[in-house]
Amino acid sequence: MLLKLISIAFLLMSISSITVESRCSGGCDLALASYYVWNGTNLTFISEVLDSTLSPSSTINFDKILIYNKQVPSKDSIDAFSRLNVPFPCNTCIGDEFLGHFFDFKVRRGDTYTKIATEYYSNLTTVELLQQFNTHPATNIPDNATISVPVNCSCGDATISKDYGLFITYPLRPEDNMSTVLTQTNLSSNFSGLVQRYNPGANFSAGTGLVYIPGRDANDSFPPFKSSTGGISGGVIAGISMAAIAVLLLLAVGLYVGFFRKTKVKESTLLSTDSQDLSAQGGKVFGSKAAESAGAVAASPGLTGVTVDKSVEFSYEELAQATDNFSMANKIGQGGFGAVYYANLRGEEAAIKKMDTQASKEFLAELKVLTHVHHLNLVRLIGYCVEESLFLVYEYIENGNLSQHLRGSSREPLPWSTRLQIALDSARGLEYIHEHTVPVYIHRDIKSANILIDKNFRAKVADFGLTKLTEVESALLHTRLVGTFGYMPPEYAQYGEVSPKVDVYAFGVVLYELISAKEAIVKANGSVAESMGLVALFEDALNDHDPKEELCKLVDSRLGDNYPLDSVFMVAQLAKVCTHENPQLRPSMRSIVVALSTLSSTTEDWNVGSLYENQDLVNLMSGR
Ligand SMILES: Nc1ncnc2c1ncn2[C@@H]1O[C@H](COP(=O)(O)OP(=O)(O)OP(=O)(O)O)[C@@H](O)[C@H]1O
Ligand SMILES: *[C@@H]1O[C@H](CO)[C@@H](O)[C@H](O)[C@H]1NC(C)=O
Ligand SMILES: *[C@@H]1O[C@H](CO)[C@@H](O)[C@H](O)[C@H]1NC(C)=O
Ligand SMILES: *[C@@H]1O[C@H](CO)[C@@H](O)[C@H](O)[C@H]1NC(C)=O
Ligand SMILES: *[C@@H]1O[C@H](CO)[C@@H](O)[C@H](O)[C@H]1NC(C)=O
Ligand SMILES: *[C@@H]1O[C@H](CO)[C@@H](O)[C@H](O)[C@H]1NC(C)=O
Ligand SMILES: *[C@@H]1O[C@H](CO)[C@@H](O)[C@H](O)[C@H]1NC(C)=O
Ligand SMILES: *[C@@H]1O[C@H](CO)[C@@H](O)[C@H](O)[C@H]1NC(C)=O
Ligand SMILES: *[C@@H]1O[C@H](CO)[C@@H](O)[C@H](O)[C@H]1NC(C)=O
Ligand SMILES: *[C@@H]1O[C@H](CO)[C@@H](O)[C@H](O)[C@H]1NC(C)=O
Ligand SMILES: *[C@@H]1O[C@H](CO)[C@@H](O)[C@H](O)[C@H]1NC(C)=O
Ligand SMILES: [Mg+2]
Repeated sequence: MLLKLISIAFLLMSISSITVESRCSGGCDLALASYYVWNGTNLTFISEVLDSTLSPSSTINFDKILIYNKQVPSKDSIDAFSRLNVPFPCNTCIGDEFLGHFFDFKVRRGDTYTKIATEYYSNLTTVELLQQFNTHPATNIPDNATISVPVNCSCGDATISKDYGLFITYPLRPEDNMSTVLTQTNLSSNFSGLVQRYNPGANFSAGTGLVYIPGRDANDSFPPFKSSTGGISGGVIAGISMAAIAVLLLLAVGLYVGFFRKTKVKESTLLSTDSQDLSAQGGKVFGSKAAESAGAVAASPGLTGVTVDKSVEFSYEELAQATDNFSMANKIGQGGFGAVYYANLRGEEAAIKKMDTQASKEFLAELKVLTHVHHLNLVRLIGYCVEESLFLVYEYIENGNLSQHLRGSSREPLPWSTRLQIALDSARGLEYIHEHTVPVYIHRDIKSANILIDKNFRAKVADFGLTKLTEVESALLHTRLVGTFGYMPPEYAQYGEVSPKVDVYAFGVVLYELISAKEAIVKANGSVAESMGLVALFEDALNDHDPKEELCKLVDSRLGDNYPLDSVFMVAQLAKVCTHENPQLRPSMRSIVVALSTLSSTTEDWNVGSLYENQDLVNLMSGR
C-alpha cells in the first residue's frame, strides 16, 4: 500500500517536471518529393497535384520546382521515366505519428484510390493511407470531391548528422537498389552508409516503400540540420522519460492489481465494452473552391514561395440550401459564439456554425491556417463563408458532445474504459495544438461541451482557434473573458494571464467530470449561491484522511460498482495536478498524454484479464 502511494507520488512528480518529445517534434519548412515522371504526365499536372501554395487561376510558377532540378534545363524538357524533386512544407504531424504534409486533390470522374496513389502521386502515398484519412468509400469517390493526400517527409536527425537538414521523400521502384537511388539523387557512392543510417532497416532493393535521401537546396548545397529544440536530441529525452513514466505506472498498476487480487474484487469483466479500434479517419473533405489569396498566410514562415494557403470558401446560397434555410429542424446546438446547424453539403454531412460576429481581416487569415490543421482528435474545419455573416463549416461528429453523454438522461452511461479513452483522445488533440501546429494555439475554451464524440466513441476537440475571433473584440470592449466559468484557472480569471496551462487546468476539470459526471460548477440544493466548483469539491475529497473513500462518493453513480477504483484514483490525482493553483506546477499536455496512454493501455490489458497472465507483472508485484 505504502509502496503504491510512493510510486503514485513519483509518477505525479515526474509528470509535472518532465517534458517529453513526441514522435514528430519540430518539422521544417521544406522537404522534397521525388516524383517519378510516368509516360503521359507533364509539369503542369505535377505542379497541380503537388501544389502546396494554390493561388487559384494564377499561373503556376514552374521555377519553384525547377530550381531543385538543375538537371532539367527548361520546363519543356522533362523526360518521361526520370525523376523530379518537388518542394513541399514538412510540418504537419500526421495522426500524431509521423511528419508529413496533406495535399488536397480534386477527384475527377473514374478516379480510384489506387490510381491516385500509384499514378497521380507516383507512390509518394499509399492506398491504405488515403483510405485512412478520407471517408469516401473506395468504390465510389464522388466526382469533384477533394481528398486529403498525406505524404511523409523527414527533416533530418541530429543524432545521425548535423550536416543534412533537407530530405527527399523517395518512393522506391522495382529497378532500384542503393546505387541507382544514389545516382538518381546525384549523390556519390560514398553516401551509401549515411543514407542507410537515415533509413534503418530499409531494403533499397525491395521495389516499394519510402526512403529519405539528403537533398540539395536551390544553391545546390546541403542545408544543415536545424534543431527545433536546440541542444540535445529530443528523441533521447523522449525515450528516457517515456520509459521512466511507463515503469512507474506499471509499478503502480502492478501493485494495485496485486492488492485487488488479494481482496478478490471482481473487475475483469467490468471494462468490457467499447475498446474501439483505432481506425483513423481524417474527417470529411469537400469539393473545394480556393479562396482568394489576398492576405496570404504563410504557415511555413521562412520559406519563400511555399506557403500553406489553400482553403475552402462556400457561398451563402449553398450553405442555406444544405441546411434547409437554417431551419430549426436542422439546428443542433447553441453556444456562446452562435448556433450550430446540421447540413447536407455536397452529399456529405457537415456541421455549420453561424457566428454572431463578422470575420475581421485577421481572423480570415487565421481561418486559412485553421483549415489546414488535421488531426484525428480535432474537429476538422472544412471551410467557411463570409457572406451575410461568418459561417464555419466543420466535419459532422455523429454522437453529440461529452457533456450530453455524461449528463443526458437519454444516453447510456459511458463505461470507465471509454472515459479513459475520451480523456486520452482529447489530451492528444490538445497536445497537438499546443505543440505541433504552426502557429501554436491555446484553446481557452476546453469544456465537456467542446469535446465531441464520434460513432466509435472516440473524442475530438472542437472550436480550437476560435478564441482568436473574440480576442480583438474583447480587448476593445473590455468585456467578457473568453472561456467558461468553472473551467478557468485563477491566474486567467483574475489577471487574464494566458498560457497553455489555461487549457491544462480546464482539461483537469474535464477529468473530474469524467469521474463524477457532475457539472464544472455544482449547484448545491439547486441554488447558485451555494454552488461549488468541481475543483474544490475534489480537492476536499482528495485531501481527506481517507481520500479513496471520499473519492468513491464522488464517482458517477451511473457507473455502479463497475469501475477500478485505483484507475479512477490515478485519474483524480492527475486532475489534481492539472488544476494546481500555480500554472507552472501543472504538467504539459504532452506529459498528460504519456500518463494517460500508459494508464489506458494497462487498464485495457487488465480488462481482458491478461494482466494475470503477464508474467513480468506478476513477478513485479510479488517482488520476484
Ligand atoms: N462539428 C460538429 N458536429 C456535431 N455537433 C456539433 C459540432 N459542433 C458543435 N456541435 C454541437 O453543437 C453544440 C453547440 O456548439 P457550440 O460550439 O456553438 O457551443 P458550445 O460548445 O456549447 O459552447 P462554445 O460556444 O463555448 O463552444 C455543441 O455542444 C455540440 O453538441
Ligand atoms: C508513351 O506513351 C505514348 C502514347 O501514350 C506511346 O506512344 C509511347 O510509346 C510511350 N512510350 C513508352 C516508352 O512507353
Ligand atoms: C498534362 O497531363 C495531364 C495528365 O496526364 C493531362 O490531362 C493534360 O492534358 C496534359 N497537358 C498537356 C498540356 O499536355
Ligand atoms: C550533382 O551534384 C554536383 C555536386 O556534387 C553538382 O555540381 C551537379 O550540378 C549536380 N548535377 C546535377 C545534374 O544535378
Ligand atoms: C507505383 O507502384 C506500382 C506498384 O509497385 C507500380 O506498378 C507503378 O508503376 C508505380 N508508379 C510510379 C509512378 O512509379
Ligand atoms: C509514412 O510513415 C508512416 C509511419 O512511419 C507509415 O505507416 C506509412 O506507411 C508511411 N507512408 C508511406 C507512403 O510509406
Ligand atoms: C464537377 O465539376 C465539373 C466542372 O467544374 C462540372 O461540370 C460537373 O458538373 C461537376 N460534377 C458534379 C457531380 O458536381
Ligand atoms: C543495381 O541495379 C542496376 C540496374 O537496375 C544494376 O545494373 C546494378 O548491378 C545493381 N547494383 C547492385 C549492387 O545490385
Ligand atoms: C563523399 O566524398 C566527397 C568527396 O569526394 C565528400 O565531399 C563528401 O563529403 C563525402 N560524403 C560523405 C557522406 O562522406
Ligand atoms: C531486399 O528485397 C529483395 C526483393 O524483395 C530481396 O530479394 C532481398 O533478399 C531483400 N534483401 C534483404 C537484405 O532483405
Ligand atoms: C543561395 O545563395 C545566395 C547567395 O549566396 C543567398 O543569398 C541565398 O539566400 C541562398 N539561398 C538559399 C535557399 O540558401
Ligand atoms: Mg463548442
